[in-house]
Amino acid sequence: MAGLNVSEYHDAQPDSTMSDLFLQADKGQEMKLTINGTPRSCDYPTHALAVFALRNDLDLKGVRMGCGDGHCGACTILVDGVPTTSCDLPFGALEGKQVTTPEGVGTVAHPHPVQAAVLAEQPGQCGFCLSGILMRSVALVDSGKHLTETDVRAALDKHLCRCGSQPRIIKAVMAALKEVHSA
Ligand code: FES
Ligand code: FES
Repeated sequence: MAGLNVSEYHDAQPDSTMSDLFLQADKGQEMKLTINGTPRSCDYPTHALAVFALRNDLDLKGVRMGCGDGHCGACTILVDGVPTTSCDLPFGALEGKQVTTPEGVGTVAHPHPVQAAVLAEQPGQCGFCLSGILMRSVALVDSGKHLTETDVRAALDKHLCRCGSQPRIIKAVMAALKEVHSA
């Protein structure tokens, strides 16, 4: 792949994805991980970015790509239950880990309390930030801790929302926490 930059690569192969670039550069070694509760065996290059492997190769489109530089939080997934940005994470770092993406949270029939609150409150506008915020909020609610609004604001501070929907998003997360702790 030396001598071919990304735009030249796409001009030459317009149907290719960014992860194809990595895949063709270096076939990876087999690695095992668990994604949304299912054991998987993958042979993607370990240096490929996790966000591309998850979205493009494993078809988990719930993982969003925003800034691509670890600043906005849109690409957040859970790695062994810990909120982690996937746009700056080598795929190889997921070896042996339990990975959760938005697809692995709740179901239509039984949404997670955060999903139920988001459905009820409809806090988003464009909704682009919500995948990442969902994942961090799920980790917050599942921690079982009694959190104040100040705690939630601090935890979600890393997540950017260009639509300015933060007040309604925080209201939804607080509703989820209230629901869980009153059950
Ligand atoms: S896309 Fe990963 S932090 Fe913005
Ligand atoms: S609702 Fe649009 S970026 Fe948050």
